[in-house]
Amino acid sequence: MQKKLINWTDKYSVGYDEIDNQHKKIVEMINNLYASFIQSKADEVIESILTEMVKYTNYHFKTEEKYFDKYNYSDTKLHKEQHHGFVVKVTKFRDDLKNGSLTTTYDTMNFLRDWLLTHIQDSDKKYVTEFKNNNINIV
Ligand SMILES: [Fe+2]
Ligand SMILES: [Fe+2]
Repeated sequence: MQKKLINWTDKYSVGYDEIDNQHKKIVEMINNLYASFIQSKADEVIESILTEMVKYTNYHFKTEEKYFDKYNYSDTKLHKEQHHGFVVKVTKFRDDLKNGSLTTTYDTMNFLRDWLLTHIQDSDKKYVTEFKNNNINIV
């Protein structure tokens, strides 16, 4: 069984240090969550890591959105909706875990991994490309 759910490689890098460092931290949190999951840690443990993960991810989203507003990013609306949708979904999952109506599965882990990596490579790289084309350097 693989130890890490996500192995960070340069292909996930968007080229802005502040954003890359935040993405790496989210990856680390998802890997911690995965480690707890494969060690069959109690739901309470998973739930608290998940809560921290959502909190930090939300902070990261706010960072990106601050730049969208500042530089009038053309796809702001859709990108903010994607962020919001993720937070709503993961928060609901965390609540279901808390009230015992759901348990963590490989599907949950794969969803977190796939969502994050797809979002970075498609949506985040899109705003970075637009910013770079307009000579905007956010860091
Ligand atoms: Fe984003
Ligand atoms: Fe991001």
